[in-house]
Amino acid sequence: MKNKNLVSITDFTKEEYLRILELAAEFEKNPRQEILNGFVISTLFFEPSTRTRLSFETAINGLGGRVIGFSDSGATSASKGETLHDTIKMVSNYADLIVMRHPLEGSARLASEVSSVPIVNAGDGANQHPTQTLLDMYSILKTQGTLKNLKIFMVGDLKYGRTVHSLLQAMSEFNTTFYFISPDELKMPATYKLHLDKMGLEYYEGGDLTEFLHEADILYMTRVQQERFTDPIEYERVKNAYILRNKMLEGTKDTMKILHPLPRVNEIHTDVDASPHAYYFNQARNGVFVRMAILSSILGIK
Ligand code: CP
Repeated sequence: MKNKNLVSITDFTKEEYLRILELAAEFEKNPRQEILNGFVISTLFFEPSTRTRLSFETAINGLGGRVIGFSDSGATSASKGETLHDTIKMVSNYADLIVMRHPLEGSARLASEVSSVPIVNAGDGANQHPTQTLLDMYSILKTQGTLKNLKIFMVGDLKYGRTVHSLLQAMSEFNTTFYFISPDELKMPATYKLHLDKMGLEYYEGGDLTEFLHEADILYMTRVQQERFTDPIEYERVKNAYILRNKMLEGTKDTMKILHPLPRVNEIHTDVDASPHAYYFNQARNGVFVRMAILSSILGIK
């Protein structure tokens, strides 16, 4: 994986996913290692973030590396009209690897084409969020003991949700059965369903969250993302489509876990937080170890 870009989850092979998960488990056991000593990593966040930026920076600090970057592009020369092309050209003079989040789909691919150092996509619009996917897979493996033959329910904004797009592609390598639960306006795009057809995988689509929930191994909830809507009336119509409550979990498998990339708004009621099914805060913690694994692999240290 040395010097590879991670723009789309499909930039890595199945063997590479598994290697990252194995390394993440090693980092979880031993998170303080000075292996990034002398490395500078840039975190460029053109769009808001709490978990992704801070878990990357925690991972870099924990491994003894240094961080440069920004969390508000309004305070950079982008606000004076500097293009993404030029910003990336400049920053690749200063850092050994660039982690970037940007609101435009395709921006991370463009960055990878102009950068002289590897680019890790920390989310590009509604397109991809591959490091989230790797931490989701790590969370699935830790809680289910396997990645194979699972039933994964994806709920909420499946149209604009970059996390579900990346996760679908990666988990399609492991004979997953998918259940897509969304309002009609936010259905999983056809391109991802075609991918499943080509892989010979089964999927179900519907609007009722509870009907088949007893079959789920993983319930992957997502936020309806106000920032992706061009029509505020459409957002108002769908924003409360799904609100998961603790009483809805009766009859589900004991081993079933609820994941959510977070932040949540109201799609998981706080009465679920104390449930043994709730795993979303642990999932976010797993991000630190997975990001340690990604950085050390791409930098050729592990
Ligand atoms: N899951 C995720 O991407 O969270 P942030 O937007 O807080 O980084």
